[in-house]
Amino acid sequence: MNYMHVDYSTKIPNNVNLGEDRQVLKALEGWHPGYIDWWNDMGPDGFQQSLVYLRTAYSVDPRGWAKFDYVKMPDYRWGILLAPQEENRVIPFGENHGKPAWQEVPGEHRAMLRRLIVIQGDTEPASVEQQRYLGKTAPSLYDLRNLFQVNVEEGRHLWAMVYLLQKYFGRDGREEADELLRRRSGDADSPRMLGAFNEATPDWLSFFMFTYFTDRDGKMQLHSLAQSGFDPLSRTCRFMLTEEAHHMFVGETGISRVVQRTCEAMREAGITDPTDIAKVRALGVIDLPTIQKKLNLHYSLSLDLFGSEVSTNAANAFNAGIKGRYHETQIKDDHRLQNATYPVLKLVNGEIKRVDEPALTALNMRLRDDYTQDCAKGMLRWNKIISTAGYDFKLTLPNVAFHRDIGEFKDVHATPDGVLTDDATWNKRRGEWLPSSGDGDFIASLMTPVTETGKYAAWISPPKVGIDNKPGDFEYVKIET
Ligand SMILES: [Fe+2]
Ligand SMILES: [Fe+2]
Repeated sequence: MNYMHVDYSTKIPNNVNLGEDRQVLKALEGWHPGYIDWWNDMGPDGFQQSLVYLRTAYSVDPRGWAKFDYVKMPDYRWGILLAPQEENRVIPFGENHGKPAWQEVPGEHRAMLRRLIVIQGDTEPASVEQQRYLGKTAPSLYDLRNLFQVNVEEGRHLWAMVYLLQKYFGRDGREEADELLRRRSGDADSPRMLGAFNEATPDWLSFFMFTYFTDRDGKMQLHSLAQSGFDPLSRTCRFMLTEEAHHMFVGETGISRVVQRTCEAMREAGITDPTDIAKVRALGVIDLPTIQKKLNLHYSLSLDLFGSEVSTNAANAFNAGIKGRYHETQIKDDHRLQNATYPVLKLVNGEIKRVDEPALTALNMRLRDDYTQDCAKGMLRWNKIISTAGYDFKLTLPNVAFHRDIGEFKDVHATPDGVLTDDATWNKRRGEWLPSSGDGDFIASLMTPVTETGKYAAWISPPKVGIDNKPGDFEYVKIET
């Protein structure tokens, strides 16, 4: 069949020949109403009857895979799309390195595989739930549209994982698919599986930080799963990465625009000291020190998503050929790592030190290092905006020991510079490093919606270019009132 083309004749658009896979099609059609209920209950609050200028995937050809059009969100065609099958693909790492990739679930790794798919699947609806109320305070129609694009695509990512569960895991796969609709972000009894996905996303700066830092964790996880020897998972994740890129673009450019606007406002007002918070806030823009605090929060929460630095689960998943490294096929080594070591940051006699560990158990640390490097690119962009405006201020990633709940540093307190501190100092200075309730209140006070075409809230600059090359006054969302 032609994998480049997506079949829209079935209720669930797909390029996996669902039309002839009646059993799976039936299972997915059975799951569909529950998904729509979930979307109505937990998806964007309001705007469900508005026409939103959204892209929908119609092909998996990287040269042209999406079409833009006005869609009401509940009518979005959430589909199952897998990247084309690579001929003769082999398992690129682990004990089975070089053997043909699996087209069915390998029995001995079934439980591990299911767990990884469920964890990935759980993050997708979680972020939609976290962002549920942001539409009401969008700084522009452009931003509103971007939020909804991210939301519908996270919904599609849930579909992607549910397809794998329904198609390859039988009855327990169906049960897991139902559970994915039952858990709720931040719920006391039935929370989402990972910490960062139970945190609030109370304002638009949080949203941009989330899409920059937390969606980027998603990128790293998807890259590792795209290497999987289980071919359907690999193909699924490869296509998800195409969509994910836009989510991180929304985050990176969102933060750029906030920084840009703050710098412009400071210059216009003749402010020379960007740390004069009261003066800057009086201009109705977000001061750079507060942006740094938000960054500290979201980066540290996202680091926790990589799990413990040293992990036998990670080693097992690699050995099994289930979850590889970032850019595995481009790494020049034996892809088995039986004798290799990797330097891990650890707490040794009260000091943070790099210690060589077996590379196999250090895979989480390695992926986290790759993530940190990827995150650092944003700092360069944002700091360029600040220095071009003539200000001596740098946004930086905090030390990995700062504000951690998982791994080596969960039981200690460290400053953003990585200096270990006692409880008293931490409690006293925490508000200098992480957003306080006062900071939250200030940001909340700026969050008034702007719904006029081509207009932007005063705390954020307009984007440099429109979505789908649309002009500045384009009506990205036709709000139904
Ligand atoms: Fe996603
Ligand atoms: Fe995403």
